[in-house]
Amino acid sequence: MRLEAKIKMGYYPTPLAVVERIRSYLKFPEYNANLFDPCCGEGLALKELKGDAKATTYGIELDQYRAEEAKGNLDRVIKGSYEDARISHNAFSCLFLNPPYDWGVPDTEEGNERKEKTFLKGTVRYLQPSGALIYIISQKRLNNDIAKILSYRFQDFNVFRFPDDEYEAFKQIVLFGSKKHETFLDDKEYDKLRIIPEKELEEIPYSGKPLYNLPLAGPVHLFRSSSIDEDELEREVENSVLWKKIRENAQVANDYMGRPPLPLHKGHLGLLLANGCLDGVVGEGKDRHVVRGKVEKVVSKYEEYDGDTLIERDVESYRVSVKVLRKDGDIITLM
Ligand SMILES: C[S@@+](CC[C@H](N)C(=O)[O-])C[C@H]1O[C@@H](n2cnc3c(N)ncnc32)[C@H](O)[C@@H]1O
Repeated sequence: MRLEAKIKMGYYPTPLAVVERIRSYLKFPEYNANLFDPCCGEGLALKELKGDAKATTYGIELDQYRAEEAKGNLDRVIKGSYEDARISHNAFSCLFLNPPYDWGVPDTEEGNERKEKTFLKGTVRYLQPSGALIYIISQKRLNNDIAKILSYRFQDFNVFRFPDDEYEAFKQIVLFGSKKHETFLDDKEYDKLRIIPEKELEEIPYSGKPLYNLPLAGPVHLFRSSSIDEDELEREVENSVLWKKIRENAQVANDYMGRPPLPLHKGHLGLLLANGCLDGVVGEGKDRHVVRGKVEKVVSKYEEYDGDTLIERDVESYRVSVKVLRKDGDIITLM
C-alpha cells in the first residue's frame, strides 16, 4: 500500500461527499472569490467546492496526467510543483489544502519534514487576510509544529473528522480557519490544536449556516510556473499581439487577384514575386515556407567634370529582392 501510494505521488482525492459538506461552511461573495488548490489532483474537489458560485478556480498539480485532467475542471492550472510557481501573494479567498501524505525528498532542506507541514508553510502567503483555510490531513499528523503554524497565522477554528465511511481508510480531519491580519501566537488555540491527534472528533455535519465569509477577490496578476509548460506557451503565443502581427504579415496577399485567364510565364511570376503580390506562407509539409518580395529605390552618387567643374550627380535605380524563410529558419535570397 505504501509503495503504491508513493507511485501515485500521494494521490488521495477528497471524497466529493465530504467537499459538499465543507461547502456548506462557506459564504461566497456576490461577485468573485478566488479558490486555490496547490496540489489539485484532477481538480474535482475544487470544482465541487465552487459549485455554481461566482468564483475563479486555480490549481497546481505535479502529475502530468492529473494536471491535464484538471485543465478541463478548473479555470487556471499549472502543471508542475507549487514550489516552482510564481504566484501573487494575498490573492486568494480560499486555500483548499489536502497535501500528499508523505515525507519530503531525503537530503533536501525539507527532507525530514512531512509534506503536510511543508505545503502549509509554503502556501499560506497566497491566501488573503480573512481568507478561509480548508486543511485536510490525517488526524495523527497535526503535531506541535503544525499547531504552532496554524495558531500563529489563523483564528476561528473548526475541526471535524471525515464521515465514518471515509474516516476508516486514512483517519482524515477537516480543519477550517480564517487567516489573521496580524500574525501572533495564540497560546490558547495552540493548546487546543496540539491535542487534536488524541481527541475524539465529531463527524463533519452539514453546517446550518455558513461560518466563513470568503473575501471578494480581483484578478490574480501572477500565476505561472517558472518552468515552461508547452501547452501554456502555445496558448500565450496564440494570444500574443506580436504573433498576431507576424501572422498578418505572413498572410498570402493575393486572395483578391483572382485567376489569370492564361497561365503566367516566368517573367510575370518574377514581377509578382518582386512587388510582393505573392508574399506570405506557401507550400505544404516540409516545403512550407514564407516568401517576401520587395522593390527598393536606391540612389547612388557619382561625380563627373563638366569642363573644369566637378559635378555630383544622383542616379536612381530599383533593387529587387525576393527572400524565402524556410521552416528550419534558413533565409534564402532568390534575387
Ligand atoms: C492528497 S492528493 C489531493 C488532491 C486534491 N487536492 C483533492 O483534494 O482531491 C495530493 C496531490 O498532490 C500532488 N502533488 C504532490 N506533490 C506536489 C507538488 N510538489 N506540487 C503540486 N502537486 C503535488 C499529487 O500528485 C496529488 O495529486
